Amino acid sequence: TQYNYILTSRPEPSVVLITLNRPKALNALSSPLFQELNQALEEADKDDTVGAMVLTGSEKAFAAGADIKEMKDKQFADVYKNKFLEDWAKITQLRKPIIAAVSGYALGGGCELALMCDIILASPTAKFGQPEINLGVIPGGGGSQRLALTVGKSRAMEMVLTGRTVSAQEAEKWGMVSRVVGEGEGEVVREAVAVAKEIASKSQIAVQAGKEVVNAAYELTLAEGLRFERRIFHGLFATNDQKEGMAAFAEKRKANFTHS
Ligand code: HXC
Repeated sequence: TQYNYILTSRPEPSVVLITLNRPKALNALSSPLFQELNQALEEADKDDTVGAMVLTGSEKAFAAGADIKEMKDKQFADVYKNKFLEDWAKITQLRKPIIAAVSGYALGGGCELALMCDIILASPTAKFGQPEINLGVIPGGGGSQRLALTVGKSRAMEMVLTGRTVSAQEAEKWGMVSRVVGEGEGEVVREAVAVAKEIASKSQIAVQAGKEVVNAAYELTLAEGLRFERRIFHGLFATNDQKEGMAAFAEKRKANFTHS
């Protein structure tokens, strides 16, 4: 497929890399860009040869937010009736893991987009923030909720109410990103692709189940979540991959998963 606002590639046979590509607008997330992103992600999610996806931007900007120029003249009636931003949630419905490789600005919707991914790796240049307050609005892509769950109330309030930008190091300390990787152009993308390749080498069924149960921790009570985890765990004994994985361990060889 030919896209206008994103690039797609296969850095590994099992990994799809999607690069946001509106460099002049610092990857501002316009509706056409988001439609392309959703289409590329859905295609990768359906493709049996793909085990995980990586989402990145440029060295300067992962994404500087929703497209302010597109939004500025909208009226309440338009945004409400047309469910503006509803298609942003599609990324959270993917069954396969998606890793955000963040360099430069991840602001507003850009920060929220990263938070919708399953793992965030940051370059030392990454800057996270929710500056919507400066535009007379608030986060609309889940930022307030995911930040509160991820970094806690006080930090989420500070980010949302002051618009202050948080450095990669701070984001790591706060648990927003799993780690800050080394300096150097492309380093964070290479590392994210390596993590994606590692995930893609596992049983796709077990990976999907793992993603599902961790996500449940954000929606369910502890008792419900523990029961859900146990049942999904039980269910995996019906898969060939469980038989193969455990047999391979006992036979001291590498498992050959068939995703069945
Ligand atoms: C539209 C944007 C944009 C955005 C940058 N640009 N961010 N266009 N929407 N969110 C455009 C600029 O207008 C400019 O275009 C070009 O990109 C380069 O940006 P500069 O400002 O010249 O670059 P710089 O001086 O380096 O400053 C970088 C920046 C600044 C600090 C990131 O661009 C900035 O503050 N951007 C807005 C950040 C923001 O408020 N994000 C939240 C958006 S609201 P021209 O044509 O002039 O060259 C939001 C709501 C989400 O995300 C709700 C639901 C998901």
